[in-house]
Amino acid sequence: MKQPINIAILASGAGSNANAVAHYFKGNEAIKIKLIVCNVKDAGVFKVADAHQIKSVLLPNHEIDSKLLSLLRIHQIDFVVLAGFLRKIPGDVTAAYTNKMVNIHPALLPAYGGKGMYGARVHQAVIESQEKESGITIHLVNDHYDEGGILFQAKCTIEPNETPESLAAKIHVLEHRHFAPIIEQHILKTF
Ligand code: GRF
Repeated sequence: MKQPINIAILASGAGSNANAVAHYFKGNEAIKIKLIVCNVKDAGVFKVADAHQIKSVLLPNHEIDSKLLSLLRIHQIDFVVLAGFLRKIPGDVTAAYTNKMVNIHPALLPAYGGKGMYGARVHQAVIESQEKESGITIHLVNDHYDEGGILFQAKCTIEPNETPESLAAKIHVLEHRHFAPIIEQHILKTF
């Protein structure tokens, strides 16, 4: 039988997207979530890893540049999923995983992206600019924050009384619905 495509998920926070992706691929013989890497001690994503019986590794910020690539190699990772990973990916990793690494961004890129644009800050900026809609972007990762080729976008409406919290909740629904199927589609096209 063909070897499965091994995925590593990189996350820094609660891990609700990691959870949705792990859930989607459960029991899939062709695509496996092999590893979860997190740079924040005690982040919620470690509990997600345990719940799905996925190996997790804490990689502190000062070790990302020197150790991330070898960690991915040791675990024979074919594809990398960034699910709320808040550090820049080192150049050796982006080079090794060209077209094989995706990120999810909680806005409609190219607007509201770039360095420092994450979490509530994104939703705050979108609401302050009186946008009528926001959404999610799933894109390939290159050396520039949020600038890789866009694979998929989905939109939601912003209501007049929208808060960063209520918008974040809507965005999470879109993320959890679309991230894993788009990852699967892209993997099936790529390998
Ligand atoms: C998501 O909103 C994602 O778009 C962003 O970081 C957030 C991570 O949330 N990149 P969670 O840890 O998956 O709950």
